[in-house]
Amino acid sequence: MPSEPVYRQSQAPIETRIADLLARMTREEKIGQLGQVCIPDFLDRRDEYLEGIRAGRWGSRILAATAFAGNDSGPGLDVAELNAIQRVAIEESRLGIPLLFGRDVIYGHRTVFPIPHSQAASFDPDLVERCMAATAAEASAEGVQWTFSPMLDLVRDPRWGRVIESYGEDPFLLARMGAAAVRGFQGPDPSAPDRLLACAKHFAGYGGAEAGRDYDTAEWTENTLHNMVLPPFRSAAEAGVATVMAGFNDLGGTPVSASETLLRGWLKDTLGWQGFAVSDWGSIFDLIGHRVAEDDREAARLGFRAGIDMEMTAGIYERELPGLLDSGAIPPEWLDDAVARILRAKFRAGLFDNPYTDPDRAAKVLRAPAHVALAEELATRSAVLLKNDGILPLHQALGKVAVLGPFAEARREHLGSWCLDGRASDVTTILDGLRRAAPRTEFTTAPAAFSDAMVDAARSAEIAVLCLGESHVRNGENRSIAHLALPPGQEAVIEAIADVGVPIVVVDCSGRYLPIPAAERRAAAILHAGVLGTEAGTAIARLLTGQANPSGKLPISIPRATGQIPIYYNRKSLGKIATFSDRYRGHEDLPRTPLYPFGFGLSYSRFTLERPALSATELAVGDTVEARIRVRNDGPRAGAEVVQMYIQDVAASTARPERELKAFARVELQPGDETEVRFPITAETLAFYNADRRWTPEPGRFRVGLGNSSTCPLDLELDLLEPPISG
Ligand code: GLC
Repeated sequence: MPSEPVYRQSQAPIETRIADLLARMTREEKIGQLGQVCIPDFLDRRDEYLEGIRAGRWGSRILAATAFAGNDSGPGLDVAELNAIQRVAIEESRLGIPLLFGRDVIYGHRTVFPIPHSQAASFDPDLVERCMAATAAEASAEGVQWTFSPMLDLVRDPRWGRVIESYGEDPFLLARMGAAAVRGFQGPDPSAPDRLLACAKHFAGYGGAEAGRDYDTAEWTENTLHNMVLPPFRSAAEAGVATVMAGFNDLGGTPVSASETLLRGWLKDTLGWQGFAVSDWGSIFDLIGHRVAEDDREAARLGFRAGIDMEMTAGIYERELPGLLDSGAIPPEWLDDAVARILRAKFRAGLFDNPYTDPDRAAKVLRAPAHVALAEELATRSAVLLKNDGILPLHQALGKVAVLGPFAEARREHLGSWCLDGRASDVTTILDGLRRAAPRTEFTTAPAAFSDAMVDAARSAEIAVLCLGESHVRNGENRSIAHLALPPGQEAVIEAIADVGVPIVVVDCSGRYLPIPAAERRAAAILHAGVLGTEAGTAIARLLTGQANPSGKLPISIPRATGQIPIYYNRKSLGKIATFSDRYRGHEDLPRTPLYPFGFGLSYSRFTLERPALSATELAVGDTVEARIRVRNDGPRAGAEVVQMYIQDVAASTARPERELKAFARVELQPGDETEVRFPITAETLAFYNADRRWTPEPGRFRVGLGNSSTCPLDLELDLLEPPISG
């Protein structure tokens, strides 16, 4: 038998296989690998599309119904169809290069986990990693090979609808969560059949959309870009993320889908990242809309020169690259580099050796009990208890509790606005969850449509649990809001029910963290449940009845009003505030603090954190100082506390944040138990992008604080010593 070509030899090194295959490819076949096509009408035009696949016209297919996939889930996946299409690519095209099937598997598949904005509140990256591994097991069983997740956009403006996909306002938390998601999706070996290639997005700065208006310009400064926006992408690259997606936004005048500085420069050259960059949906074509290109030809040139290897859905590379290569506008070695990156991802994914999906796997893994248990655990840890006068947990002796509001019996809404494969029928409602959790209590309800019926139902109950919030049609892509508040009418219901004198517990199931003035005034407790996925009702019921103890912490500051936006904890110190801090107001009509700060969250337990200390007051480059604090659970029930470490650079070559999160740990303690939490501090912990545009620590004084929110005192001092002058 003539030996197989090297690129088909599974034991050959990937780079050898890439080089062998590249040498065999025509220019047309190379350009074909750079195109990702969406074929929503595949069944209507099957022969035409299969002919294109035989000709090697596309390297990837996005499994989506429309450009707004997240809000339009479209038809489900058909493994047999995807295998049939793949078989044409493998067996009927000249070189048999497999297609890469991508899909927005953002926070779950059939088992739907909390949205990332809720996941972040768990401060539990290890659990997030296991949940994303479960997601990969389910999605891969239905033919998906690549997910467009995690989203690593730093967000300080909750008016932006896509805040629900983000891990919030802090780069350290984003980095930890994003790297955990990458490890969960890809695993130690992404060629395993139950794993997915991951995609860090949107590179970069999309979360800075002005006024929260989606797709709007983002004006991050270079200092903020490198200190806040880019570090999560560096962490994802270090975690081995296979792909990165460019964003729709312009950054200070340069659309990021045409930013050679960011893509070819920082990501590929500076970091040495070897994955491939994909555009967002039509974002290269959008360069015409940004008015930096007058036509497709120029848009394609800008996108490809910037370093976008694969173009999503507009076909602009297929049409324009031949001419750009002929004219010399694009050097052929750039084409080879882009194709090599895409082939590297396909080899890493094992597609050349195992391109087909076992059709029998889905039935075994979709909604596997272990996945459902993980979803319930993450949902339980993702809720944040904001206020509680002691009414929670609900007492078991309660006779009648009214469970009211639009989320009392909601199902689809708990799946959120980027959910393509979850089913509303899999969702446990809050009402059902409560009835299961506390069968001795009578849980009544009323039609969510009529507030007078709700008030009437509340009147005859001992407590009213109001399940409120915005639904998935009010956030997500292209769904931003101008007024940061509950949807119309919900505050009035709180007031009306409070007026009849019934104690109120507000459960906010919004994707965003919203100020709810009426709840602040009238509710005995506020639980921000967030968007918790298929196990929402079970998790919320366990939390309300005390079968689970809230432990979530805010991943983003909650403004008192829209007018405070942007308000975030890691803000820079204000020069003037040093001299008249006591009289500085920020705004005349509001306190200058957020309603609730980053890192805040209550528990049913009482935790005492005391005796913070440093193992030394001086740190030499190359050494480690340990920050320590004792944590005790003073009862009455077992619970978890998230201990956080914040550091302030007292004086540096640029203005630095008042404090920055540099470590956190979730500790679980029985009543009466205590433990010591220790965090290492090294010179790298203190590094930042400084006035010389270098990522480096600067010797000098630092203040350190340990506590359970971003308002903990910075009461420890540490000196980073000048490095010894090398002889
Ligand atoms: C969308 C989103 C992006 C998503 C992609 C594919 O417009 O911006 O996050 O992954 O297109 O659906």
